Amino acid sequence: MQRPRLLITRRLPEAVHARLRNSYDVTANDDDLPFERERLARALREFDALVPTITDRFDADLLHAADFRTRIIANFGAGIEHVDLDAARRAHIVVTNTPGALTEATAEIAVLLMLMAARRVGEGERLLRAGLWRGWAPTQLLGQDLRGKTLGLIGFGRIARETARRARALLDVRVAYHSRSRASVKEEAALGAIYHDSLAALLGASDIVSLHCPGGAATLHLLNRQALECMKPTAILINTARGSVVDESALADALSRRVISAAGLDVYEGEPEVHPALLTLENVVLLPHLGSATLQTRTAMGMRAADNLDVFFSGNTPPNRVA
Ligand code: 8YV
Repeated sequence: MQRPRLLITRRLPEAVHARLRNSYDVTANDDDLPFERERLARALREFDALVPTITDRFDADLLHAADFRTRIIANFGAGIEHVDLDAARRAHIVVTNTPGALTEATAEIAVLLMLMAARRVGEGERLLRAGLWRGWAPTQLLGQDLRGKTLGLIGFGRIARETARRARALLDVRVAYHSRSRASVKEEAALGAIYHDSLAALLGASDIVSLHCPGGAATLHLLNRQALECMKPTAILINTARGSVVDESALADALSRRVISAAGLDVYEGEPEVHPALLTLENVVLLPHLGSATLQTRTAMGMRAADNLDVFFSGNTPPNRVA
């Protein structure tokens, strides 16, 4: 029997390629440069299955055709807002993602950003590397303690809860959250989490605000100027979710006017572009989308995508089907 033709759009850890080569007729992207739109359009006609990433956009226009060969898009990653799921359904393409595989790694980056922003780590390192450090001084680069402070989570899914667990253990913070649906009493009790039924209330009550909601139209610029003004002037904003959730220009303005104290960002609206005003500010930590960037996690994500493909091609419903 002929093996399904599979396109992997970016270079994944070698163990993932090796596994996929066992079962599929694999085409890889040896240059590891994001594909042009035209290449993705062709791929939908040439391959039975695709393993894309966040750098591939499958919008309604691209998925609007009748002659597709592709039957499954097994996304490498949890966030799936770069694939128009309704359009995929109309095109009879199954879509899967990789939830669970990157929970811990992403939560770690969220906690790391909290500490980096609170303790002014980036500023300190830039000072030292620039040869400007004149030695220890009692009031130099004073940050803020986080213990006893309130960590406000926006969204209360897997990554949010893992972030809360780790922040409680390491930083001794209290937990509050706001999300579309309230968790059970048991789930709240496990983290001592206080629910706020409005975003403004959560923002006003939090010393650290950490974003854990999906990207896409429903959360576009949820953190806009008005929302940022609900935060405490001492507060820190952390974003490991999606750049589109934050209005970057409003954030840069709020940081420069000290409407809020600091921010830690791992994701951006127009990656790899970063709003130029953010690049000039000392009180924001900027990471290049490292949330899931460990060899173990990226391998686990690839294996999860492979599991979804294997189940699909055995004629069953893949475990992480989202469309
Ligand atoms: C991934 C992520 O690396 O899985 C996600 O949602 O944000 C990242 O950590 C990326 O999406 C890979 O496609």
